[in-house]
Amino acid sequence: MLAVNGSIPGPVIRVHKGDTMYVNVHNQGYYGVTIHWHGVKQPRNPWSDGTDYITQCPIEPGSNFTYEVIFSTEEGTLWWHAHSDWTRVGVHGAIVIFPAIGTTYPFPKPDDEEIIILGSLYSGNLKSSLDEDLHSGIDLPHSVAYTINGEPGDLCPCSKETTYRWMVEYGKTYLVRLVNAAVSADLFFAVAQHNLTVVGTDAHYTKPINTSYIMISPGQTMDILLTTNQSLGHYYIAARQFWSQDAPAVFYDPVNATMILQYKGNYTIPSSPTFPSNLPFYKDLRSAITFTNLFKSLANKDYPVNVPLNITTRMFITLSMGGIIFHNLTSTLEAKASSANNISWSNPTTDVLLAYYRNISGVYTTDFPDQPPSYFNFTGDDFPYTLTELGTKVKVLNYNEAVEMVFQSTNLVEGAGLHPMHLHGHSFYVVGSGPGIYDNATDPKSFNLVDPVEVNTFGVPKEGWLAIRFVANNPGVWFWHCHLDRHMTWGMSSVFIVKNGDTTETSIRKPPPQLPLCKASFRLRLENIDGLDQGKENEPIFS
Ligand code: C2O
Ligand code: CU
Repeated sequence: MLAVNGSIPGPVIRVHKGDTMYVNVHNQGYYGVTIHWHGVKQPRNPWSDGTDYITQCPIEPGSNFTYEVIFSTEEGTLWWHAHSDWTRVGVHGAIVIFPAIGTTYPFPKPDDEEIIILGSLYSGNLKSSLDEDLHSGIDLPHSVAYTINGEPGDLCPCSKETTYRWMVEYGKTYLVRLVNAAVSADLFFAVAQHNLTVVGTDAHYTKPINTSYIMISPGQTMDILLTTNQSLGHYYIAARQFWSQDAPAVFYDPVNATMILQYKGNYTIPSSPTFPSNLPFYKDLRSAITFTNLFKSLANKDYPVNVPLNITTRMFITLSMGGIIFHNLTSTLEAKASSANNISWSNPTTDVLLAYYRNISGVYTTDFPDQPPSYFNFTGDDFPYTLTELGTKVKVLNYNEAVEMVFQSTNLVEGAGLHPMHLHGHSFYVVGSGPGIYDNATDPKSFNLVDPVEVNTFGVPKEGWLAIRFVANNPGVWFWHCHLDRHMTWGMSSVFIVKNGDTTETSIRKPPPQLPLCKASFRLRLENIDGLDQGKENEPIFS
């Protein structure tokens, strides 16, 4: 696994709200890498967003690149991770954003804090298994364990001696900064015999949520208060996969990741720590949805809500699994794909940002559709296998456009799970969500325009829909995608180009002096080897 400065998770970055930070990344690995500052809006500065083939080409082995990371409205916890292939499995870490100097939290100042990063572990060289799997088109790698701060914990024989321990004092309140950095798994999380109070998510504060468990999707972060008010002892903190799909249960990872919450003081050490009895079971959809629906913004004078009310761009986007056809010299193969509005994103050879900024044509097209090619019973049970279209289709937005996106998950193939959708360069308000098919006449009536939660990643429920709103006030080129890397790699993603406003202050900044140059992306290398067809012969069944 590729690691940063010799550790997984990598170093913690601590800043104050509004800081600007420079990070010089030296690539001493064997293949290209980029680093993304997940949830940092980077006003006017897409050059440092770190998305491969979207805002930059990978930093090749032996070279380096300096990111200028501009913090603005974010406060709380975010994280950084590689955004190239699946290198983020080892290349990630937390970003702690303290309140600006002279200000404080909207809750009593915690006595101390702790960072907990949930991750995943794969056996073998993940980069080469991913390349092989992409080539055969059947499946993508599955993890062998989940980790907490780099360790699977006591329940996994490989980790018993090195289980992560957190030493606490009795009677204190701790701020836990929780990150789900797992490559492709939603996770339940609980602490034995201790209640949790969620006070923030994705570097935005929330109304306090008192809960005995949490469900956190890849990409999400949560700020949680925990008071050490139980008998002195050892308690397991555990994470278990939330499996939202109907596909056979063999694909979920049965090992529960654990760490130990350990009170300081004199007491008899228990033979085994207590396990959290309130940790929901793998397929507990109800617990997942109940928890997810609890999020609300503070929405007060100090933390106002600015949800756009006059929408100027509406998009209805189906998220599906499907297939693409490609040909090599002797045969025609079908490969797995996933899509948004039946388009499977294909990385270009030059990054979209440079092509846009320098007016290079032929790199992308601007016809990402606002609607799926046809409407059908999206959440029904009986569909033929669907072919999707490969494309590098972006959507262009005017500066300050008020955007509403409604994501509709479909049941096609095994896609009927939760999709944590993530938007770069902006945060968005979650104004509504529900089961079944979105109804554009009745559902908007129940939208929360008063105190919707503000986030950068949020789950589209299984067999349901999610409505989000944001103002496109950040000129640049911004990726959006499902944060399950399996789905992202199969193409469930696209790009917004947000045009400049009228002034310099509302326009993209100048590019940094040295940008890495692009080699061909993996899919395109495949196309050259195997003649992967750019969707020409793919007849979507939708039409
Ligand atoms: Cu957390 Cu596009 O990334
Ligand atoms: Cu997904």
